[in-house]
Amino acid sequence: MKYGKDIEKVLIPEEQIKARVKELAAQINRDYGDEEYMLVCILRGSYIFAADLIRELTGNVKIDFISISSYSGTTTSGEVNLVKDLKEPVQGRNLLIVEDIIDTGLTLSYLKAMLAARQPKSVKIAAILDKPSRRTVDLKGDYIGFEIPDEFAIGYGLDYEEKYRNLPDVCVLARSEYEK
Ligand code: IMP
Ligand code: MG
Repeated sequence: MKYGKDIEKVLIPEEQIKARVKELAAQINRDYGDEEYMLVCILRGSYIFAADLIRELTGNVKIDFISISSYSGTTTSGEVNLVKDLKEPVQGRNLLIVEDIIDTGLTLSYLKAMLAARQPKSVKIAAILDKPSRRTVDLKGDYIGFEIPDEFAIGYGLDYEEKYRNLPDVCVLARSEYEK
């Protein structure tokens, strides 16, 4: 895909993402074995990752969707709102949260606490991207695709003001786009 000057650079090309998703899936397949588990896909950023991931999963897997909002523009508001809850009850079940990116960690620590209160059997986290240098709370993912530097990533489901989710590669948004 050819990009315009709103894209600073390609950070992770499509082929590399595909290969890494396969590796993560192999690890997840090994870890869960025959245990039933449910992907908790966080809308909207992680839907592309979840769609790619689930097609590589061979075990007893189901999927449900949750929507929370914590962001406007490129900085976190610190506030997390539950926009749409899961359809399925989670008590006694193995949950694998699927997220696009872990940044400060606030969203996932909120969500983990919320789900833990419903007494699931286990809660783990898969995220395609991680910005460890930005963390403000103690939170670690269990299955991480790529650690990236502190740059604003777009594409492969990630947006800037709802744009760019369609890009097949993970790219860096040009600063001129959000500093204008
Ligand atoms: P956290 O609560 O700070 O960890 O933020 C997590 C959420 O912020 C993610 O689910 C994304 O929606 C959004 N986010 C954080 N960093 C980026 C980025 O570089 N690009 C796009 N969205 C981001
Ligand atoms: Mg998100």
